Amino acid sequence: MAIERTISIVKPDAVGKNVIGKIYDRFESNGLKIVAAKMKHLSRREAEGFYAVHKERPFFGELVDFMISGPVMIQVLEGENAVAKNREIMGATNPANADEGTIRKDFADSVGENAVHGSDSAENAAIEIAYFFAETEICPRTR
Ligand code: TYD
Repeated sequence: MAIERTISIVKPDAVGKNVIGKIYDRFESNGLKIVAAKMKHLSRREAEGFYAVHKERPFFGELVDFMISGPVMIQVLEGENAVAKNREIMGATNPANADEGTIRKDFADSVGENAVHGSDSAENAAIEIAYFFAETEICPRTR
């Protein structure tokens, strides 16, 4: 399996619940390494640009309002099959449908306020990483 990178965002609801560390534990316990991280309060323009693929969807306005309602914690995760692994750890978009033991099952309240974002493909991961991080901000592990 290939070593991949993916973007993870701990959304404002989960930052507000003070569970950043508990969510980081899920990544680390599942073999994903954090190779870059920053806390940021997104501007409306940044949130709209990040979710541009959804701009025609009925939930777009609410999604952007939610994503700028407080700071987010953004990280680059690295590991074998990182994109799919992170999606598995996150659980289904709607926490009502999420498997036991997933982040969304344990920390999300609704489909709109669902604790975490994770890239859905290697191609989108590369785009999303470049959206938030310069290559020099990513720290490959030497040990
Ligand atoms: P989507 O890319 O479908 O899900 P995921 O985050 O699992 O990749 O949707 C992006 C975000 O849009 C989702 O995390 C929450 C929001 N959203 C809603 O608010 N309502 C909805 O009905 C859907 C499908 C998504």
